[in-house]
Amino acid sequence: MKFFLDTANVDEITELASTGLVDGITTNPSLIAASGRNMIEVIKEITGLVDGPVSAEVTATDYDNMVAEGRLLKQIAKNVAVKVPLTFDGLKACKTLADEGTSVNVTLCFSATQALLAAKAGATFISPFAGRLDDIGGVGMELISDIIEVYSNYDFKTEVLVASVRGPLHVLQAARMGADIATVPAAVIKALYKHPLTDKGLEAFISDWEKTGQSILEK
Ligand code: E4P
Repeated sequence: MKFFLDTANVDEITELASTGLVDGITTNPSLIAASGRNMIEVIKEITGLVDGPVSAEVTATDYDNMVAEGRLLKQIAKNVAVKVPLTFDGLKACKTLADEGTSVNVTLCFSATQALLAAKAGATFISPFAGRLDDIGGVGMELISDIIEVYSNYDFKTEVLVASVRGPLHVLQAARMGADIATVPAAVIKALYKHPLTDKGLEAFISDWEKTGQSILEK
């Protein structure tokens, strides 16, 4: 499973990309606003920090302007994926941009039928929002499972990008379902590797090692 980092914060991206575990980045207008940066400038900088896709979202809501914005965002760097919302105009824009060879991430997906249409429109990625469904009493991961089942029935190339991930359990469930990608906030990535027994065990190993007076690097 690929991991995308869900942030427009270049410090977080720089720190976590150094692990080699970050396969791409997703942003949205709220994340750009939180960065306090100019969108074009920050997307350009991010595209230089990772090799994988960097999602940059259009903010127009009508077809003509979504396509115009998408074409402009695509010019920033070759690894930009244009993000469009899952609306009537967004699906049309997806089809147009995809037909031009642009990688398109269709976002704000909350049903499997929406995901089906995005795949038919040529989306490279579909972004179902697990956490936001949980927030209103739904079961977000059931949506992911439904989309994977529907896509597996056909020859769709669209990758399932699990979004609105709130914690390690979402990541584990996504991996068990075979989702292609999870886009994860930095805090959740860190929560994936932290374990109190790892810390406790390491403390004991180091303490015992120090008693030996040895050093592996000592000549
Ligand atoms: C990413 O593509 C989505 O915009 C993001 O995961 C939404 O997450 P949120 O529901 O925590 O805002």
